[in-house]
Amino acid sequence: MFNNLNVALYVSGSIACYKSLTLARDLIKKGANVRVIMTRGAQMFVTPLAFQTLTKNLVFTDINDEPNEKEITHIDIAKWSDISVVAPATANLISKMANGIADDAVTTTLLATDGKKFVVPAMNDHMWHNPATQRNLQTLNNDGINIFSPTKGYLAEGYSGKGRMIEPEVIVDKLYDQLKDSDSLFNKNILITAGGTREPIDPVRYISNNSSGKMGYAIVDAAIDAGANVTLVTAPSKLIPNQKANVIKVKTSAEMEAVVKNNLNNADVLIMAAAVSDYKPSQYNKQKIKKSSDKLVLDLVKTHDILKEVAKVKNNQFVVGFAAETQNLVQNAKVKLKNKNLDLLVANDVSHAETGFSSDNNKVSFIDSNGVIDETDVDSKKNIANQLINIVSNRINK
Ligand code: CTP
Repeated sequence: MFNNLNVALYVSGSIACYKSLTLARDLIKKGANVRVIMTRGAQMFVTPLAFQTLTKNLVFTDINDEPNEKEITHIDIAKWSDISVVAPATANLISKMANGIADDAVTTTLLATDGKKFVVPAMNDHMWHNPATQRNLQTLNNDGINIFSPTKGYLAEGYSGKGRMIEPEVIVDKLYDQLKDSDSLFNKNILITAGGTREPIDPVRYISNNSSGKMGYAIVDAAIDAGANVTLVTAPSKLIPNQKANVIKVKTSAEMEAVVKNNLNNADVLIMAAAVSDYKPSQYNKQKIKKSSDKLVLDLVKTHDILKEVAKVKNNQFVVGFAAETQNLVQNAKVKLKNKNLDLLVANDVSHAETGFSSDNNKVSFIDSNGVIDETDVDSKKNIANQLINIVSNRINK
């Protein structure tokens, strides 16, 4: 259900804390990875050890306690999390969130988090109905934070009123529904290749190309933004990949082929944005080639066409290829689409300096078996990546 979703679970001081143990366990059972952050008040009700035992992760409780010198814990959790769930959320914590206060482990981490947040309040009914609380909830709502309102029921005070935190299984169902609706690639596994492969000639030389990896890395970002689990198979690139991607580094086309094939079964979509060398030296010289003669002829042999090879073994994967062309863009692309048995082809013209390989911009045509579906203007690789991910999610969710 949650297929490796990284959930930061924030727990603040309410008797409903005990329900959050069940919530943590249920999320993990349904496939999520959970890290817990607790306020001091929460630790009066439930111990961090209880959450640590359930989640198999250290619980973050103290902003001054940094167990790993290589990381700043609140930033690390903020970046790691795909979603944040604040349950139970007390009136005090809701007020702090609405005002951007960052004075403990919970509030600093929440303030550092850009991703989706879900707040699950628990409090006395008078506190819930207080105009200050309602104002703060409205502020959170305006900030795009989802509120899972409490129900009317038996309160710790011994009477019935609105303020009771909804049950863990209801929280899990609501999270699933919301993510399914808002994230077009929620629960999808996307395999993306990027960068230019290197084919070694001898220990110090290789054949490669001008690919920077920018297009592939932008697609990784767009897919992660759409809620996908992304595995990036990257040939050498100077870029820093999205922290949420599972990154596998390769150098040669043969290594890339092996990794793609190994990961294909687990993928819903393969996007081959890598510039794979078409030829490689027929033999590798174990020793550095000396410049002893005036002329050196390199004998090259064709590499495997990864896309073509994958088409032979694929099941239901939606496969996207790229076509880098310098002439007859659409015509050549259509031939490639058919020859390589692709579902979609992104054809880009690499003959212009302002688009293509190392540029931040690109201009592409999206082509399927019916012809050109869409053509972009010269646009940022980021925008083009988002367009591609939109097309892919429309196709696979049909
Ligand atoms: N590709 C691949 N394996 C190769 C070469 C290319 O999987 N050995 C993939 C690329 O990742 C890209 C697509 O095939 O998605 C098209 O690559 P491109 O270089 O444009 O076309 P080629 O098929 O190599 O044909 P040509 O160079 O003749 O245009």
